[in-house]
Amino acid sequence: MDSQPTNPRLFTFLAGREGPWAVTELRTVTGEPLQRTERLAVLPGDPAPTTEALPAGAWALRGVTSNERYVTRPEKQQLLASQAPLGRPEATRAVLIPIRKNPAWWAMTQDERRAIFEERSRHNAIGLRYLPAVARRLHHCRDLAHAEPFDFLTWFDFAPRDAPAFDDLLAALRASEEWRYVDREFELRVERAG
Ligand code: HEM
Repeated sequence: MDSQPTNPRLFTFLAGREGPWAVTELRTVTGEPLQRTERLAVLPGDPAPTTEALPAGAWALRGVTSNERYVTRPEKQQLLASQAPLGRPEATRAVLIPIRKNPAWWAMTQDERRAIFEERSRHNAIGLRYLPAVARRLHHCRDLAHAEPFDFLTWFDFAPRDAPAFDDLLAALRASEEWRYVDREFELRVERAG
């Protein structure tokens, strides 16, 4: 009997030789690289909670979806009105971007972080321009029982025609003040395997 209750908000990104997503590009944007991989699976729960449970050569990153920290009510209304769900049939491209922010970010108070995130960096205002073409899900890693190498796992999917727009979005966010606090970032681009 499985006595471990599973958090329905927990997701595992399992990289290895199997999975519905074929890796097309791996790029270390900032900091230490991640091990190369061929396939990616996005799974509910934590199917491989120990290193020993992972298939040879595989790695796993875990995160939980959560309540919003930064959005105001009007911003939330705009997001709800514009956002698309993950997994649309035409969304055959996806990108996993794990991100870690530095101690200076985490030492700030909520209002100081919000000022950088939105008032000065316009994260949500910029992002909204790319909805509904890009669908997204944010996972938090800091409050899990086991230490994880990143603070956030960000996951996006879109149709091939929207890939250039996604690159523009990345460039705009990475040029912002918020990104000065990012000390590790990785990009894993995938496409749905035939
Ligand atoms: C597709 C358009 C996007 C929209 C509409 C969007 C919107 C948002 C919003 C509203 C939040 C705050 C959630 C909260 O209140 O807690 C957020 C957080 C975040 N987003 Fe985006 N985003 C987009 C794209 C991206 C991209 C492309 C990346 C990565 C390169 C990214 C990385 C993050 C990270 C790391 C956080 C967590 C920030 C923190 O809590 O410190 N976002 N995003």
